[in-house]
Amino acid sequence: MLSKSIEKALNKQIRIEAESSQVYLAMAVWAEVKGLEGISNFMYDQSDEEREHMLKLVKFVNERGGHAHISELNAPNVSFDSFQKMFEKLLEHEIFVSQSINELVHISLQEKDYATHNFLQWYVAEQIEEEATARTILDKINMIGDDKGGLYLFDRDIQQLNVISSAAPESPVA
Ligand code: FEO
Repeated sequence: MLSKSIEKALNKQIRIEAESSQVYLAMAVWAEVKGLEGISNFMYDQSDEEREHMLKLVKFVNERGGHAHISELNAPNVSFDSFQKMFEKLLEHEIFVSQSINELVHISLQEKDYATHNFLQWYVAEQIEEEATARTILDKINMIGDDKGGLYLFDRDIQQLNVISSAAPESPVA
C-alpha cells in the first residue's frame, strides 16, 4: 500500500511524463513542418516513449492501492529558433526529468518504501540512456551548426542513432 506522500510524489511524476510526451510531440510537429522527417520521426517516437513512462507509473500507483491522478498539463513550446536550440531543450528537459526521478528515489528511501524504490530503478536506468542520447545528438548538431547540407544528412541518420546507456559517466545517478 502506498503512503499518501509517495502517492503524491508518484502522481507528480505522472504529470511530468505526460508533459514530456507533449513537449516532444510539439518538437515532432515543428520538425515535420520544417520538412525534416527523420528528426520529426525521432521526436514522435520520443513522445510515444514518454507516454509509456507515464502509463507504467499509472499502473504501478493503481496496483499498489493508490489512485493515479490524470491532471491538466502545461502547454509545451511549439516553435524554436533553430534545431540546435530545440535539441538543447531536449537535453535540458531530460536533465530535469532525471532530477525529478532522483528526488522520487530519495523520498522512497526516506519512507522505507522498498517496492517503490525497486520499481524506480527502471526509470533511473532509462534516464541515463535518455540523457546520453540527447547529449550525443546535441554534440552532432553543434558540429553541424548552420550548415544545411549537414542538417540534411543528420536528418537521414538520426533514426539509426543508438546510444549505449552505460557510456554516460556524467550521469547524476552515478
Ligand atoms: Fe520519461 Fe525522457 O523521461
